[in-house]
Amino acid sequence: MIYLDNAATSFPKPKETIDFLNDFVLNVGGNPGRSGHTLSVDAARFIFEARGKLADLFHVSDSERVLFTQNGTESLNLAILGLLKEEDHVITTSLEHNSVMRPLTFLEKEKGIHLSIVQCAHNGQLDVEDIKRLIRKETKAVIINHGSNVIGAVQPVGEIKKAIGEIILIVDACQTVGSFPVDVAADNIDILCFSCHKSLYGIQGLGAIYIRNGIELTPLKFGGTGSRSESIEQPLFLPDRYESGTPNTPGIAALLGGLSFIERTGIKTIIKRKQDLRRTIVDGLSNVPGVVVYGNKDDNNQLPVISFNIGGKLPSEVGYELNKRAIYTRVGLHCAPVAHRTIGTFPEGTVRVAPGYFTAEEEIDVLIKAVWEIAKQP
Ligand SMILES: Cc1ncc(COP(=O)(O)O)c(C=O)c1O
Repeated sequence: MIYLDNAATSFPKPKETIDFLNDFVLNVGGNPGRSGHTLSVDAARFIFEARGKLADLFHVSDSERVLFTQNGTESLNLAILGLLKEEDHVITTSLEHNSVMRPLTFLEKEKGIHLSIVQCAHNGQLDVEDIKRLIRKETKAVIINHGSNVIGAVQPVGEIKKAIGEIILIVDACQTVGSFPVDVAADNIDILCFSCHKSLYGIQGLGAIYIRNGIELTPLKFGGTGSRSESIEQPLFLPDRYESGTPNTPGIAALLGGLSFIERTGIKTIIKRKQDLRRTIVDGLSNVPGVVVYGNKDDNNQLPVISFNIGGKLPSEVGYELNKRAIYTRVGLHCAPVAHRTIGTFPEGTVRVAPGYFTAEEEIDVLIKAVWEIAKQP
């Protein structure tokens, strides 16, 4: 079995992820922040530590401004639905995932916001001047996919923030966290949305959001926080304002394991290994007659997320053939139809290969051999 779908979720998980998850479920198990007993306090400690490690990894000075959500999608929905009001103008790009495009389209249709979409080039390149040209006095936010889940193109978020000044920069970092340097302080990011189950090695059912001090979002959920129980109003302080209901503490414990693995291994080592794998895959695929690899082939600002097609074959056929050989990729539109229109692969999409830290070089050899075979088939 060869798993090359790490852009959807990472697999396998490091041993630390499983160990921390087991430890929580077997030995702790309390509901954090609710009861005063030892198991509840111990559960809260897992959350406190994971929040702190995320803040350190992304250079956030105040860890209380890092909030847990269910997934990257919920983080983006909180940022978009919680920020934008009638008549606000927002700018985004033609590489966005549907977890950005769908809430924006909903707000455009139902709540009267105004949306501008900057067209990126076929290789994913974005011209920052194009964003500047679209700015109006009602422009409230710019939303940027930091790293494309279709072609791996990484956008210069620091440069974009410089260009837009006081306008709020919302960064969809679902694909970049753990795969590319993410620096909230250096790039002056206002809101960072990400998944914890991809390259941060948590388990499914966990995401997070960082919200800069001074930005007010209307919460998506209201309810019990374990704090200020005497009041029927939602607390205003963080993290409680945005974390209602029993959290996914087993998932947060698993994330703490994943972050410990990243710390032990070194984020630079992890990024380098995945970049080496990316290069091997791009080189191998590019040599197969009839294969088109999308996006940039050089090393500049690319994630280990590679889309390709075999001329004359549908991506679904190629994916079926690979699956028959127990090689697991993701085919189709990857929840990003606008991105596929941008690279010219709508509506069939592409075959996406996303290696992970645990992918072996021999597995890439098997993939490339299989693509040669499939390309030769009539
Ligand atoms: C760029 C991008 N944004 C958002 C998401 C949504 O994240 P999640 O699956 O955690 O909801 C994904 C997931 O594939 C993604 O790749």
